[in-house]
Amino acid sequence: MTQFLSSNLSLVVGALLLLVVVGIRVLTHDRDLMSDLRFAFFSMVAFLALRVTAFFVGPLLTGMPANLLRLAWMLTFAFGAIRFVVGVGLWALRARRRTPTPKILRDFISFTLYALASLPILKATLKIDLAGLVATSAILSVMLGFAMQETLGNLFAGLALQLERPFEVGDVVVVDQHTGKIAQVGWRATRIETFRNESITLPNNIIAKAGVKNFSRGGGPIGADMLLGLAYDVPPNRVKGAVLDTLREIPECLAEPAPTCRTVDFAESAVQYQVRFFARDFDTVSGVKEQLYTRLWYRFQQEGIEIPFPQRVLHMRQAASGPTQDTQELLGLLTSVDILALLKPEELRVLASEVLPRRFGAGERVITEGDHGNTFYVVASGEVSVRSGRPEVEVSRLGRGQYFGEMSLLTGAPRSATVVATQDTLLLEIGRPIFARVLASNPPLAKALAELLAQRRTELRAVAGTSPAEARAPEARRIFARLREIFALSEA
Ligand code: CMP
Repeated sequence: MTQFLSSNLSLVVGALLLLVVVGIRVLTHDRDLMSDLRFAFFSMVAFLALRVTAFFVGPLLTGMPANLLRLAWMLTFAFGAIRFVVGVGLWALRARRRTPTPKILRDFISFTLYALASLPILKATLKIDLAGLVATSAILSVMLGFAMQETLGNLFAGLALQLERPFEVGDVVVVDQHTGKIAQVGWRATRIETFRNESITLPNNIIAKAGVKNFSRGGGPIGADMLLGLAYDVPPNRVKGAVLDTLREIPECLAEPAPTCRTVDFAESAVQYQVRFFARDFDTVSGVKEQLYTRLWYRFQQEGIEIPFPQRVLHMRQAASGPTQDTQELLGLLTSVDILALLKPEELRVLASEVLPRRFGAGERVITEGDHGNTFYVVASGEVSVRSGRPEVEVSRLGRGQYFGEMSLLTGAPRSATVVATQDTLLLEIGRPIFARVLASNPPLAKALAELLAQRRTELRAVAGTSPAEARAPEARRIFARLREIFALSEA
């Protein structure tokens, strides 16, 4: 190589290269290639100037000045040619892959080639054997190693990032708590421009260790999660309904993939819900979050859903002083149930204080066909579906003021059907001992129940496809006789 550089041929090649550089520079609009060609152009101009100077002045110079002049033209030619070849090579690669070339890759290739070209040139001109010096001097190697430890670590981390390609220039990423666009990947560090217009420079080895969340890969919608903490006394399905409804009102929130709201934790002061939604791109996500928080505040206010503060609950014992508002409400509901209307007001009041409120979410099973059971339920709010057979067929739907569970409770037989809440439902549960007491003091109630039981059995048989075993009236009489026996009832 040094022989070629010393010959006049290098002068001709240099001049030709300069022409090619100028030609391509005029034609191209690629910014990276233009910057490489600019460097190659000035190197070649410098080379030609030095070479022509050497041609005329060279014979007059001897010793160190002559060597330095040779060194200068050789280096300028080598550097210019290397930059030209690297620039054009990477441009061809870019044109094929249609992705920008990271600066670190350009620099790494160029500097490695500069170093490799400099070694023989230094040896030929100044008789300096750098490669041998570094290889044979252990102390120098160790010193260099220590001094460059951090820099080399960053350099290799940067190169590893380029090989793995977890991001490209222009990608929106989250790295080490910083969110922004990748502006440049350099030798030592990567520059991120945040959405607050800050420019953050992160050393490459920190990026390699911290991990990168890239929002610009895949080209699909961007998902985001939010946590909401809401009061314990609000049924989860109501919260979910309100949140999903509100999300549907926000145009930037995509319908597909559908947003979700999940109950994720019973936390100290609140039930935690995780809301997940998707938006077209990263820029839209924070807008949707803002809109959701704002709209939910109003929605929760309207629906009386409390957003609780951190709190502790203290339960104070209070001496009973007359019926509470809840008991009054229960009383009203129990009075509206047809068979319970047969009870005296005092009996109803006692019953109201004994029933257990039970909440069921939409889709939850209250009773399973074939199970044993000794509880009776009155629907206080919501709705249940009574299903029988296999596959299950709906026999009936029961709403506020209607009741179920009497068959097993009264006859001791296994549950005759499955009962499922079709929406969030509040049931009032009455246990066997309470029921037995109420029946004992109200024989007409047993008669009404026997009628009801006979009617429901007929309906179940119709669904099962079996013909009625006996007419309804005799069956009701038979059931009534059995009830009197089980509950030791007196003659009505
Ligand atoms: P039980 O058998 O204890 O449990 C299932 C309940 O479903 C049953 O009591 C009845 O209360 C109810 N059930 C059964 N058949 C009907 C029907 N045809 N209409 C309404 N409810 C019914």
